[in-house]
Amino acid sequence: MINFKTEIANAISKATNIEQKEIKSYIEVPKEAANGDYALPCFKLAKVLKKAPQAIATEIKEKIEIDTNIIQKIEIVGGYLNFYINQNTLAKEVLKQIAQEKDYGKSTIGNGKTVVIDYSSPNIAKPFHIGHLRSTVIGGALYKIYKYLGYNTIGINHLGDYGTQFGKMIEGYKLWGSEYNIDENPIDQLTQIYVRINNLCKEDEAVLERCRNNFKKLEEGDPYCTELWNKFKTLSLQEFQKIYDLLDIKFDSLNGEAFYSDKMPEVIEILEKQGKLVDSEGAKVVQMQDENMPPCIIIKSNGSTTYATRDLAAILYRTRTYNFDKALYLVSYEQTLHFKQVFETAKYLGIDEKYLKGLEHVAFGMLLLKTGKMSTREGNVIKLEELLNEAIQRAQKIIDEKNPNLENKEEIAKKVGIGAVIYNDLANSRIKDEIFDWDEILNFQGETGPYIQYTYVRTKSVIEKAGNIPNIDSIDVAILEDEESKQILKLIYNFEDILVQVTEKNEPSILSRYLIDLSKAFSTFYNNSKIIVEDQKIQDARVYLTYAVGKILKTGANLLGIKMPDKM
Ligand code: ARG
Repeated sequence: MINFKTEIANAISKATNIEQKEIKSYIEVPKEAANGDYALPCFKLAKVLKKAPQAIATEIKEKIEIDTNIIQKIEIVGGYLNFYINQNTLAKEVLKQIAQEKDYGKSTIGNGKTVVIDYSSPNIAKPFHIGHLRSTVIGGALYKIYKYLGYNTIGINHLGDYGTQFGKMIEGYKLWGSEYNIDENPIDQLTQIYVRINNLCKEDEAVLERCRNNFKKLEEGDPYCTELWNKFKTLSLQEFQKIYDLLDIKFDSLNGEAFYSDKMPEVIEILEKQGKLVDSEGAKVVQMQDENMPPCIIIKSNGSTTYATRDLAAILYRTRTYNFDKALYLVSYEQTLHFKQVFETAKYLGIDEKYLKGLEHVAFGMLLLKTGKMSTREGNVIKLEELLNEAIQRAQKIIDEKNPNLENKEEIAKKVGIGAVIYNDLANSRIKDEIFDWDEILNFQGETGPYIQYTYVRTKSVIEKAGNIPNIDSIDVAILEDEESKQILKLIYNFEDILVQVTEKNEPSILSRYLIDLSKAFSTFYNNSKIIVEDQKIQDARVYLTYAVGKILKTGANLLGIKMPDKM
């Protein structure tokens, strides 16, 4: 596809003798469509060319040679050079790609690069909470998008399956296992056992000692303890799997914290050899460069390793196993300090600079619940599976009211309900706290998942009315010269660039925002131009544009994890 920005940069570079790359970095997309499609702020060149911006603009405009099939018009406004791309060429290019490519925007720019994405990562025998939902949804979207751009993408569920609490769980199960039905309702029952044994430990030092001992035995591979631990893990995973199925989430590795238990001694040894491990009140820690930052604890005063030690072992393992270019950690901003400590300590592991550069904590804000029905007795711990099922039920109710005769209502309600929850999680830049409000997320007219789905369904019904998708060769692109069509074509043209931006910033909200913009642009087009008309040529062009919009909406939404219904 023609890259308009590159073409402009090439031409300016020739006219000014300034490097193309530099020019390209200055070229902007004007906020107002009236100011053209691309603009060069000439003051950026003032220093090098030793002239006033206005004079530079005039000179470039005179000298520049660029095909009018690419750039239709160049204008000077203030110290800016505004470029207007050739409408017909844009339309031809975009529609041709839509016709040719099964997967529009798919690329190979990531080929040869590996991205490890550590996401979801709930804790065994504990409820899957809303923080894990955000990690799952944001991580899941990044996973799909990196893959689409050709990266070798590894999804890791770094399960919390290690620690003294498992010694307690084992003891609790030994004592009262028969009273609970853990096969039926594992997480709920295990949580109850855990609360009970924890209370007992507080009263009775001997019990606590037994729990510690159980954990020690577990680490040494004692068969009974290992069997129980495996049982807790399998049952918890079965329950988590229900959520992953609803959200269509997949992992390449389920290596949780316990996986690193035999890999921590090496970390300790390396740090010791480097002289980085210092004693601090009986613990062994690594001091941070910033004195105000607490040290990274490697071995606690009671001799046990920490969450950080396991993360360090995981870094070592991931460099060797995956040879990654990027290693992303999708974890809430509450763990910012943890990752700062771990990444700084990783510098002493003797791994290549490339790996250190690739480590990134992709932090996100909280999902705040509008108080009311959603919170349960335990405060903010709501069961995710219940939340997702409620979303489906609510969607079903709305659909029942709006479109009672629809077929496959259940299937559609599932797509709409889950889509609403996913979209809400991705709607704004990830670091922002997000408010969860049922009425808002399911509003078909708001900036929501269902709105995107609804727009898609509209494109489908237009095509249905038209009878078929017209042949690309019969399309007269001159018909698509109105502002609304142009707006849509430009958005579609930008799709691949949007995906690249998502990976540059690890920010799927760039794509969610884009899908809303495209939906809105289509709604304007739909309201202002009749699509199904007498004149077959006009109809064909407009139907084809509609088809293109539907294709992008579906591709984009799928990349976020949102599924599209054909009707709703
Ligand atoms: N299990 C942890 C928690 O629930 C999240 C783990 C994130 N991943 C990591 N490599 N530390 O808080």
